Amino acid sequence: MSQTVFFNGSYLPKDEVSISPDDRGFLFGDGVYEVVRMYGGHGFGMDAHVRRLSDGLSAIGIVADAGLLPEVCEQLIERNDLGDRDAVVYLQVTRGVAPRAHHFPDPPVAPTVYAAAWQFIPRTDPAVGVGVVTAPDHRWTRCDIKSVSLLANCLAAEQAETAGAYEALLIRDGMVIEGTRSSLFGVVDGVVRTAPVSNYILPSITRTVAIELCESENFELDQRPMTLEECERADELFLAGTTTEIMPIVRVDDRPVGDGRPGPIATRLARGFADRVGALAS
Ligand SMILES: Cc1ncc(COP(=O)(O)O)c(C=O)c1O
Repeated sequence: MSQTVFFNGSYLPKDEVSISPDDRGFLFGDGVYEVVRMYGGHGFGMDAHVRRLSDGLSAIGIVADAGLLPEVCEQLIERNDLGDRDAVVYLQVTRGVAPRAHHFPDPPVAPTVYAAAWQFIPRTDPAVGVGVVTAPDHRWTRCDIKSVSLLANCLAAEQAETAGAYEALLIRDGMVIEGTRSSLFGVVDGVVRTAPVSNYILPSITRTVAIELCESENFELDQRPMTLEECERADELFLAGTTTEIMPIVRVDDRPVGDGRPGPIATRLARGFADRVGALAS
């Protein structure tokens, strides 16, 4: 059965979608996207995804309704028979189709909206943790926009993949900022650390949940990025992201983190996250 996708207001088989080579998403990476995790048909953090999509669209001046996200997610899950499985929905909005010129089309053209859902089977286990590498952060200075222009993220992710690691931690000005597709937390001198929201990180929805869980567990938290030196001596490190959930890091560039096993704080938060997912269905 062909996958049913959403394209500019219609649901249709994926192989019937045709996107113009003049689409500004194709030519310039001129667009934003969201990835929503669906657990048994229930979207996690849906309101926050809608808000971030809306903020991203406003930030780059695309007029489109972010409020369509929940309905598109629901429809794609239903039409692809994914209701009883874990899945992701990917949605992207580009500025639309116009003859190639860097400045925006004037008058504006209709944005291109594409979304697809597929089954998601995690290849990681918080009881085991993951290995990561470090890489320079070559991204631009608007990392707060969830832009489809992801070349710098892809280059670092490829470095991780080649090294057999799950993720690359990005280093800017001596600070370990976040991953290519996940937020970063550490436990340094007994305090949970994560970079503050700024133009250098994505305002991650899972990061917010991890912070809420820290607060409910009374873990001391300091929203200050780790230096490379702090990262190297951290007792624990862990990632947070929509597809990553909360995932202990057990190895950085072939050095063990702590004793090389998932740490107690990361493990507690991963359980708290699983509880939140469990509560979605009730
Ligand atoms: C650079 C970056 N940081 C963090 C995240 C995690 O964000 P979220 O928790 O909203 O998935 C992502 C997700 O794609 C990302 O691309």
